[in-house]
Amino acid sequence: MTARLIDGTAVAARIRGQVAAAVQARVAAGRARPGLATVLVGDNPASQVYVRNKQKACAEVGIESFGHDLPKTATQAEVEALVTRLNADPRVNGILVQLPLPDGLDEERVLNAISLEKDVDGFGPVNIGRLSMKGRKPTFVPCTPAGCIVLLEEAGATFKGANAVVLGRSNIVGLPAAMLLLHRDCTVTICHSRTKDLPAVCREADILIAAVGRAEMVKRDWVKPGALVIDVGINRIPDATKKSGSRLVGDVAFDEVKEVAGAITPVPGGVGPMTIAMLLQNTLRGAELADAR
Ligand code: GUN
Repeated sequence: MTARLIDGTAVAARIRGQVAAAVQARVAAGRARPGLATVLVGDNPASQVYVRNKQKACAEVGIESFGHDLPKTATQAEVEALVTRLNADPRVNGILVQLPLPDGLDEERVLNAISLEKDVDGFGPVNIGRLSMKGRKPTFVPCTPAGCIVLLEEAGATFKGANAVVLGRSNIVGLPAAMLLLHRDCTVTICHSRTKDLPAVCREADILIAAVGRAEMVKRDWVKPGALVIDVGINRIPDATKKSGSRLVGDVAFDEVKEVAGAITPVPGGVGPMTIAMLLQNTLRGAELADAR
């Protein structure tokens, strides 16, 4: 059997098109253009690329972006003061503080400072609290896990009663992804470095989300035939056949797992593009929330 490929690039392009059309309609109706503030502290090269890509995506759909780059020597008070200023700025509908923050800064306090109505990453305590409770509705859902769910829907997932296994318990992906699956009535297992017999647990999964950051860890015999596999990993491994000397792979051994899975996301071109698409969608929603206030 060969898995169906879940094309995240195509799904993300569709969502970006929808956001662009909605932004255009807002502006034509005389409403404010949505705005996203990005906060980048320090000089982590990967974070610089991510933030640049987010700003570029904003420009493509007509969302304004306001980039704030602080040196790695920025103090806790300086970062929080910037967030407070952005909370009060009516041009800003979403505040994205790129993580991880440099050592010495208290991430929790910075995220707590972002106002609920502008927490487009969904990492603030109220959004995560609501996400973790039955019957509550977060104002914003974290972008990467939200993108995983859209891709599962795209693949025709039946969530109710499905066994869903999430590999990884990070605040950014694993934990919120598990909560989203639980809300859809999956039976959810969260696996981590101390989980016993990981392959056996994974083999029970009808839905498998891999978000551990370990190159090609999930092997063919970890996957139940027909399972839906979402690969969040982006890992660079050496490859002498490439001009750059390396290539990107996910947390799933794609070539072998595609032979057994029902559907699978590629890396690149799977979950990656969805994160930005969901951020754009959340920023538009932030603008709509501001209209309603
Ligand atoms: N670092 C890695 N992923 C993310 C994300 O989705 N949002 C933010 N703010 N930082 C990240």
